[in-house]
Amino acid sequence: MAIDSAFLDELRARTPIASVVGRRVKLARSGRNWKGCCPFHGEKTPSFYVYDDHFHCFGCGVHGDVISFVMQMEGKNFPEAVEELASSAGMDVPKDTRRTQQEVAHVRSLEDVLAATQEIWSHALYKPEGRAGLDYLLGRGLTRETLEAFGLGWASERRGELVSALAPKGITPDMMAEAGLMRVDEHGHPKGELFWGRVTFPIRDRKGRLVSFGGRILGDGQPKYLNGPETPVFSKRRLLFGLDRARAAVRAPRPKGVLAPDLVVVEGYMDVIALHQAGFTGAVAPLGTALTLEQLEALWQVDRTPILCFDGDAAGRRAAVKAAETGLPLLKQDYSLRICLLPDGEDPDSLVRTRGRQAVAEMFAAAQPLSEVLFDLLSAGTNNPGPEERAALRRRLTEVAALIPDKTLASEYRSTLLDRFFTTFRRGGGGKWNGPQGRKTNAPASVPGAVPVNMDQTRERQRLMLELLLFHPILVPEVEEALCRLDLPEEFAEVRALLLDLSAEGELPDNAAALYAWLQAEGAEETIRAVMRESYSAMSESDAEDPAHTVAARTQWWHFYGLLYGPQFIQEVNREIARFVEKGGDSAEWQRLQARLEAMERLKRGGVDDTEL
Ligand code: UTP
Ligand code: MN
Repeated sequence: MAIDSAFLDELRARTPIASVVGRRVKLARSGRNWKGCCPFHGEKTPSFYVYDDHFHCFGCGVHGDVISFVMQMEGKNFPEAVEELASSAGMDVPKDTRRTQQEVAHVRSLEDVLAATQEIWSHALYKPEGRAGLDYLLGRGLTRETLEAFGLGWASERRGELVSALAPKGITPDMMAEAGLMRVDEHGHPKGELFWGRVTFPIRDRKGRLVSFGGRILGDGQPKYLNGPETPVFSKRRLLFGLDRARAAVRAPRPKGVLAPDLVVVEGYMDVIALHQAGFTGAVAPLGTALTLEQLEALWQVDRTPILCFDGDAAGRRAAVKAAETGLPLLKQDYSLRICLLPDGEDPDSLVRTRGRQAVAEMFAAAQPLSEVLFDLLSAGTNNPGPEERAALRRRLTEVAALIPDKTLASEYRSTLLDRFFTTFRRGGGGKWNGPQGRKTNAPASVPGAVPVNMDQTRERQRLMLELLLFHPILVPEVEEALCRLDLPEEFAEVRALLLDLSAEGELPDNAAALYAWLQAEGAEETIRAVMRESYSAMSESDAEDPAHTVAARTQWWHFYGLLYGPQFIQEVNREIARFVEKGGDSAEWQRLQARLEAMERLKRGGVDDTEL
């Protein structure tokens, strides 16, 4: 679809670029114009300027009008961006299909410019002028076969050479600028070639079409790598280097029993190329930025559980957390991520060379599901936390789980994370806990040793346990560890979530009347209906918690827990007793322990009927 140019002029005129940009980027006045931190490359000091009719970043060179801003920011194509701007300006987009051919021709011409450039650069690598580049690449352990397969090249040191080489083909500096091969001034005029004196890496989209280039300097100069700017055919947010080859490799027909290669996301161009050479044909990399939503979606179209590799150092872990947070809102039951933390300070390129193929294969094979590493990533650096830190970490865990839109999956993540929280940071116990039950992997949502019983009965017991807590909220903190382990149906899990959140934030009232008032005030009565048999309001009339009732309720709660998770419960109680004997504790702690002992006794006697409430 092509769009009438008069309409586009009108649209640009009626859509002030500063306000469109300002909705996504914090802008400050700079004379007649605006400036802010560039949203297209990570920066801390603003070099992104917004003028009347265009924007320009003096840091990374992105440049364009309001339409291309929306395209680049949101990963939209031209008609989609126009549609979005037009609808917020209250305009209707006229459709004129006659122009389609013109638009196609335009993209074709960009492709021609890129292809002509690739031909020049890839030949230059094997000529005398490209010798230094060739030696550099061979010196890094790449074979000639690999260089050719990836189409690596050499951009001459002589400025102006590419411009003159393309001129006979009718390619002008303006066309080169549009293809992302030139630096431009703040008016968008070409100022000189972007790449010179660098080895060049053609960047292809997932279908293998050439869309841009990257270039590496030989040795230690700065910047080490340059990437082409955003253009109508190249969007850094959407593209992954190597995805064309990885996709073909994953989808290639193979003999029965032979597994598809893992889709592996690494950091840089050289990692991708070295991995492919070593036979890891599913390697891809973003282009110097953190993984975006669009890139994750592109990955999931190829493989349901791609592996994300990160350096094992603190920065790498932070990057892993960031990637996880980007990915969680998109997780579905069968679309997930695996995380591979590499040895400190190493990248896959250095690893294949120093440790060999087999060692790398083992690292990838040991990549862990996100659900299992997320807790370690989020709690890294937390040791022996005090109450504030505990609360902060718990809040963070619940928040992170809540990023997942699929409710069932979110509740799985939540219980896995909280379960790890309670086993790792036992209250009163020093530091991370590594007892016999300390789990490294596979924290399951359900509890080992759960006694198989009648579903209705299980459900009723779970319901009663939650009901008890609504009447005696004061018990929540002391049972929360066990509470988290319950494998609850969704509507019950919501009640648990409510109680745990309030407790984590220190806002849980200590008696039923106050809790009821809170629920009413927050309009959350509906949530608890699933577990209430009697009317809550009628039963929560007395403000003060009667201590005798609390004691009875506590024992009753543990009794139900024991009925549901017998062997687990007995183990836990024994562990607690051992701990109490060893470390001692106050009388309140002893009282809590006694309730569990009493419940255990009742279990042994054959239990008291469930209805004894
Ligand atoms: P790294 O700095 O981690 O380097 O950049 P590397 O991949 O190990 O590169 P070698 O081994 O020294 O050649 C990782 C990626 O970040 C982007 C590039 O995409 C690079 O592949 N990058 C890095 C840039 O865009 N610009 C830079 O100046 C540096
Ligand atoms: Mn490297």
